[in-house]
Amino acid sequence: MNLQILTDTIKEMLAEGKGLLAMDESTGTCTKRFAALGIPQTIEMRRKFRQWIITTPGLNESISGAILFDETIRQCTDEGIPFTDVLKKAGIVPGIKVDEGTVPMPAFPNEEITEGLDRLRNRLDEYKKLGARFAKWRAVIRIAENIPTDGCIDANVHALSRYAALCQEAGVVPVVEPEVLMDGNHSLERCFEVTEKVLKSLFLQLHIQRIALEGMILKPNMVIQGADAIKKSTVEEVAEATIQCFLESVPAAVPGVAFLSGGQSPQLATQHLNEMNRRFKNKLPWVVTFSFSRAIEYPAIEIWNGKDEHVEKAQKFLYHRAKLNSAARKGEYKIEME
Ligand code: 13P
Repeated sequence: MNLQILTDTIKEMLAEGKGLLAMDESTGTCTKRFAALGIPQTIEMRRKFRQWIITTPGLNESISGAILFDETIRQCTDEGIPFTDVLKKAGIVPGIKVDEGTVPMPAFPNEEITEGLDRLRNRLDEYKKLGARFAKWRAVIRIAENIPTDGCIDANVHALSRYAALCQEAGVVPVVEPEVLMDGNHSLERCFEVTEKVLKSLFLQLHIQRIALEGMILKPNMVIQGADAIKKSTVEEVAEATIQCFLESVPAAVPGVAFLSGGQSPQLATQHLNEMNRRFKNKLPWVVTFSFSRAIEYPAIEIWNGKDEHVEKAQKFLYHRAKLNSAARKGEYKIEME
């Protein structure tokens, strides 16, 4: 393993004031989002969607890396320029989602395991040739009565660690994503307890699998109540709980924590990120940034709505949302900027 290659890429990915854009929706997820907006669910519309995102003027002011999907990393602009070349030219590091989605875990009702380890070594080789310098693997942990189980947590953090090992061997930075879902009506305290347990299991397993922590980025959920919980926490409470949980569970050797938005509204996700950086930035061992999908792409995707004539306006909204998150990454976001 060449740690220098990994740390050089990470330096670019964690550049000051910048974060990651997760534009790696699987075909299934993209289909659902397009269907909800009445956009035709075709490969060509997905290409157009990704094209206007990556050609947004000034996107590189806030975005240091973009996570692509298998279909997307092979696509080109109308002019025939590979998407990865467009990103590289803009100084945005191309990345790739390498997990193959989740399936029900046998014998564990309502729990899922992520697939994609088979032949991953060969696939990483191919993705590297296509221009990817970092990868992402998402594990899903659900909170409900009697779950998550130890069986589900163990299987998922083991898969994450094996993925991370293969990435590091290939010189591709692993973005390690253990997502505790917001689905349900659980409290912030319950999310804290589960997130802490998952992170502690994850870092034990990463250690066992000989992962260099300096050569990875963590992509976690924030500590927040379930989407259907009646009691909503304040921005301050989410920021404090998240930082406390992470200080207790994430080793200082990890260079960066890039949060997912997980279904929070774009504004709230930005506010939470901002509050963490505003209050704690100078006291934390790791960079705290974003790796949002929905909290950057919305509302721009609704404005685009599949129409070529709306592309310019959609790009303005995408640029603005990315800028707000860039400000939050520095703790300099203000609600008036919305
Ligand atoms: P959201 O920010 O929409 O949660 O997506 C992040 C992501 O990449 C999930 O895997």
